[in-house]
Parts: sequence; C-alpha cells; structure tokens
Amino acid sequence: MENKMEWWKQTSIYQIYPWSFQDSNGDGIGDLPGILRRLDEIQALGVETIWFSPFYESPGEDFGYDISDYTSIDPRFGTMADCERLIKEIHKRKMRVVLDMVMNHTSDKHPWFLESKSSTTNPKRDFYIWKKGNKKAPNNWISMVGKSGWNYDSKTDEYYYSNFLSFQPDLNYRNPKVKKTMLGVLDFWLQKGVDGFRLDIFNSIYKDEQFRDNPFSFRFFPTPDNHDEAFFQKKQYNLNLPESFSFAKEVRKHISKYKHKPFLIGEVSGSDQVLKSFLGEKADGLNLVFQFELIHFQYKAKFFKDLLEKNETVFPNPYTPTYVLGNHDQRRYIDRLGGDVRKAKLLVCFQFMARGVPIVYYGEEIGRKEGRLSNFFGKDPIAKMNRFLPLFLSNLLGIYINRDNCRLPMLWDDSENAGFSNGKPWLPVGSFQTTDTVKVQKKDPNSLWSHYQTLFHLRNNLGVIRDGSLKTIETENVDVLCFERENGKQTLRVYLNFGETGVRLDVTKKGKVLYAFGGAEIGETILLPAHSGVIIDVTGKKSLKK
Ligand code: NOJ
Repeated sequence: MENKMEWWKQTSIYQIYPWSFQDSNGDGIGDLPGILRRLDEIQALGVETIWFSPFYESPGEDFGYDISDYTSIDPRFGTMADCERLIKEIHKRKMRVVLDMVMNHTSDKHPWFLESKSSTTNPKRDFYIWKKGNKKAPNNWISMVGKSGWNYDSKTDEYYYSNFLSFQPDLNYRNPKVKKTMLGVLDFWLQKGVDGFRLDIFNSIYKDEQFRDNPFSFRFFPTPDNHDEAFFQKKQYNLNLPESFSFAKEVRKHISKYKHKPFLIGEVSGSDQVLKSFLGEKADGLNLVFQFELIHFQYKAKFFKDLLEKNETVFPNPYTPTYVLGNHDQRRYIDRLGGDVRKAKLLVCFQFMARGVPIVYYGEEIGRKEGRLSNFFGKDPIAKMNRFLPLFLSNLLGIYINRDNCRLPMLWDDSENAGFSNGKPWLPVGSFQTTDTVKVQKKDPNSLWSHYQTLFHLRNNLGVIRDGSLKTIETENVDVLCFERENGKQTLRVYLNFGETGVRLDVTKKGKVLYAFGGAEIGETILLPAHSGVIIDVTGKKSLKK
C-alpha cells in the first residue's frame, strides 16, 4: 500500500461460511482443503481479507457459533495442519485472515460448562453466570432470540444465563480468569498469524452486576442494527453495558502488541452513539464495527446520500465506516432487489466507492439467491424454535427465521451440485442456471462477478478510494447520487442513477472515465440510463459542473 493509513482501514472483507463454500471429501459439508482449492479464485476476484465463520470444534447446533474447544479445528472441516496451511497460503497470496471469535458464550458441551454445571462449588462454576431463582427466572431479561435468557438447572437448583440460545451459556467476564483465558485464546491464534477477529455479539459481553430488571419498551421486533429495544424491553441491563465499551479497549490494547497489526471488527448493534462507544471516544476501542443500515436499504438515491452524510458526520476520519449488504444471518440482498442485477451493480458500486470497508458475503459476487426452505424443516436453531411459523407469515412480518436460506452452497460450475460437493450437500443447492455460476460469470465481462472484480481491483489500485475523504454533491436530478473522493493527489466522482428513466447531466469538462456500467456514457454530457453508473477521475478538472 502506498499510503500511511492503517491497512485494516483500507481493506475489503470477504466472508466465507465454511459449511457451504467448497467440500473436498464428499461428506456434503464444506471444509478447509476445499477452501484452499479456491484461494486462487478468491485472489483473482481481488479480495484482501477473508473472514471465516467459525470452524472450531463444536457440536454444530448453531453451526459453529457454539464452540466446545477454541483452539482446535472441528474434524468436519479438517485438521490444525489444514488450518495452518490455509493461513500460510492466504498470506502467500498477500491476503489476510480474520477468524470469527465467539467470546460471549460457549457451547453447553464445552468442558468448562460441563464442569461449571456439575456443582455449585466447582472451580469453573463462576466461569458462567449462575443465579438462584426461587422457582422463577431471577429477573426479566429477554435474550436476543426473544425468550427469557435464564435456563433452569434442576441439579443445582439455579439458573444459568444465555443471551442467545439456551445451549450457548454466556461466559462471566466479571471473573478475571475468564478474561485471561479468552485473551489467551486470541493469543493462540495471533501467534499462528491470523490478522484479526470478528467478535460475535460483542454487545452482549457484560451483563448488569446487580441484575436489575430491564424497563418496558413499546417495541417488539428487533432489526439487524437494533437489538436494544425488542420484545417489549429496553435491554438496558443485558446489552451494551459501559463495561463492554471498556472491554473493547482492553482487547484492542491486548492485541496491539502484535507487530503484524491485527484488528477487531465487532458485531454490535444499537444507536450510532452505542457504536461509537464500542469504537472508543479516541478511536481506541474496536477497530471497526459492522454497520448494518445498508441491509435494509431503500433503493433510492436519497437513502444512500443520507447514509453517506450520516457516516461522514458521525464517523469522520479516524473512524472508518463499514458497508454490509448481507451475512449468514440475513436475507440475501439480491432477493430484496427481485434478482435485478442492474440494481445490484449500483448497490455494489456504492458499497465499494464509499469511504470505509466493504464487506462481501460469499455468493454475493454471483448474485447467489436465497432458498425457499420452510421454517418447519429448518436446520437453523432459530427455525427450529419457530418451526410452526409459516414462511410466508415470517416474510410478511419481515422477520428472518430460517437462516438456512442464506447459507446455501456456493455455485461454482454446472457439474454435480454446482461443483460444491460430490456427496449430498448438507443444504440443497437448489435450481440454478449456468449463468449463475462463478465459472460462467468469470468469462462474461458484463456479469456481476466481473463487476465485483473491477471494483475490488479499482480499490486495490487507487489509493484515493481507500484513503480519500468523501463529500456528497448535489445533482439536478433526485434519482442521481453523486459523491466525490479526494486525497490531495486524485479526485474521483461517482454518479449513480437509481431512477427508472435515463438522465442527462450537463458537464463542461469530462474527466477520465475509470469505469462505466449499465450503459452510462460520457460525452459533452453524462448520459446515465436507468440503473447505471460511472466513476470518473476528475483530478484537476475544477470546472466540472454539479
Ligand atoms: C451472531 C451470529 O452471526 C449468529 O450466526 C449466531 O447464531 C449468533 N451470533 C450466536 O452466536
């Protein structure tokens, strides 16, 4: 990188869900040797950082987010030697590795919990949050999945707390031994060379020491970016505690001693103020947090303009916004666009050209669509909990119940099971066209894959996209979003037409077109057909009109 800005502020992240990426041994589940086989393709796409959803040993009740050994590899995915090879091969290709770290809770099959559960006097008892209940839950705390977070254990006549599902007991960070052990887990992986961690539900790490009841709220449904008020509760005492903000700084400090400058990206949710508290008032907390507003985008220029302006106001440099269109918990964005690739291209151009870190979920680059798997037969534990809720009703209510649907296998080619596996895939591949696969899209310069590749490469090659400031520019047309990126050496303008009709914009000097798509053309004017966009280098072209 030619500039001085920290590497993680400039990076791009690609999320791999190991279960669904590439199977190598025919058991129908993706694995590390499979991922190794695909590294060249990921590199060709232009990705810098790969984030892996968990592949540690786990009963797999929440598909790896229920860990039973933090320093081992689940045999479903391979061995520690495979993992070490993966890290090495990624680094060899000048890419980076981010591991998912579930610090908030373990599996209830973790030896620590089994010990903790065995008696009230066991030395591991205090590794978790236990409380007497007097025949009812110790307080009113609702977990993130909408039920009491307290789980009764008849053997010791106490309740343990879980802020997600009951088989995921929360660790007790008020116990210094827990902190020390979990920071030790980070060290284990950092010493293996990993470049950072995605911290799972980090907003839930601390719970109120006095176990006070949460106050009432009128809000029932949570959204991806706000769990703070949901299920008729303001989660004042079991989410986003000030101690969690301080712990963010502690973890940052802890990892800062590593020379290779690893970073943390937190899965947290709440108001901008809450996110900022996790990032630290001196930007000394989590390096980045996921910002999920883009997940429920409105396909309107104004929505994107407001988002950019909000981020520039609330998270100015040195803060680095992140732009997320989906992940393994959310409906895929291509389905929210009715499968319209023209619109997808606009969204992605926005995501990659904004100041911040774009985060791409595997399959987004080919417009991999959702499944239509019912809640009833879901493998996802959230679906199991809600199995009697029909899919159409959960869709109508706008709640995402069966996350299997966004976790379907990758579509590589038109061979058996789309090249994902020669065994029976753990989730169905579903129907697809050859044009939906990586193999075909890679050869088509107009495909979504090629669009992603162009944008990844533009980011990689042009410092201004990674380190430049951003300002929005008013345009003559409400459907057109325009913003400028500038770093003192170079100035770029991005024009995106979100409208249903073509637009002609008057400019006096053209600048150099770096990338145009959707039929955009530049002459004496800029012609932007519906759902098209253009990136122009306007360095030195001061007379370019609005
Ligand atoms: C958030 C993860 O993204 C999700 O997949 C998981 O089920 C929960 N945290 C619990 O770990």
